[in-house]
Amino acid sequence: MNTQELINTARALVADDKGLLAMDESNPTCNKRFAKLGIPQTEEARRDWRELIVTTPGLGECISGAILYDETIRQRKKDGTPLIQAITAAGIITGIKVDTGAKDMAGHPGEKITEGLDGLRDRLKEYFQMGARFAKWRAVIALGEGIPSRGCIEANAQALARYAALCQEAGLVPIVEPEVLMEGEHTLAQCFEVTEEVLRTIFHHLYIQRVMLEGIILKPNMVLPGLACQVQETVDEVADATVQCLLRAVPAAVPGIAFLSGGQSGELASARLNAMNLRFKLRHPWALAFSFARAIQQPAMEIWSGRDANVKTAQHALLQRARCNRAARRGEYSAAMEVTGR
Ligand code: 13P
Repeated sequence: MNTQELINTARALVADDKGLLAMDESNPTCNKRFAKLGIPQTEEARRDWRELIVTTPGLGECISGAILYDETIRQRKKDGTPLIQAITAAGIITGIKVDTGAKDMAGHPGEKITEGLDGLRDRLKEYFQMGARFAKWRAVIALGEGIPSRGCIEANAQALARYAALCQEAGLVPIVEPEVLMEGEHTLAQCFEVTEEVLRTIFHHLYIQRVMLEGIILKPNMVLPGLACQVQETVDEVADATVQCLLRAVPAAVPGIAFLSGGQSGELASARLNAMNLRFKLRHPWALAFSFARAIQQPAMEIWSGRDANVKTAQHALLQRARCNRAARRGEYSAAMEVTGR
């Protein structure tokens, strides 16, 4: 393990007010999103979409790293250039999703455990040789009647820590992603409590597994009320709760926190990230960044809808969302940017 390289990569991922673009949807998830827009669910269409993303002019000004899926990292552009080469040429660091999905957890109805540790050491070695410099593993925590259980939180935290240790051994910065889901009637206070417990448990296991905190990026949910909760707090209230929760549970040695969007609209995700950076300027020890999938891709995917003629307009929409999020890192985002893109 080259400690300094890991630290350099982790820092580079959150440098210059940039953030990450998650484009690592598994084939079933990508197909589901395509199906809603009438896009063919084929390997070629998935390639075309990912090629559209990574060839967006200027993307590297706002995006430091792109997270790919196994199929994508092996794909080539239509002209034969490997996609990974196009990503590097854009000044973007290549990352790779390495978990194999969240599966029903035995003995824990309604809860999931993320799998993928078997054979992981060899897969990481191959991804590093292909040019990847960071990886991602997503754990899913649902809120509901009697859940999450301690068993689910512990098992997912331990898996995340074992994954992170293997990544660092292989020279890849682990993105540690625990997602407390938005689905449900729970309040913001309940999301706060569960998110704090999940994060504390994860950092306990990262310590036990000897993971170097300076060489990871944390990718958590924002602290939000459930989608079906009667009370929906303001942007500032969400920002305050999220940063307060993180200050309690995330060690200062971690260089960056890059939020997932989790199904929030692009505008809300940007506004909430902006409020955190504006209201807590210089009062948090880590960079507060983004690692969005839907909140960056969705409007562009809708415009594209699988048609070559729409590629340029879709790329413009993608860049616009990336720019909005870079501005949010500086606390300079405003709703007016949604119109001008600047
Ligand atoms: P969303 O931003 O759409 O939640 O996706 C982030 C991600 O990478 C999920 O694993």
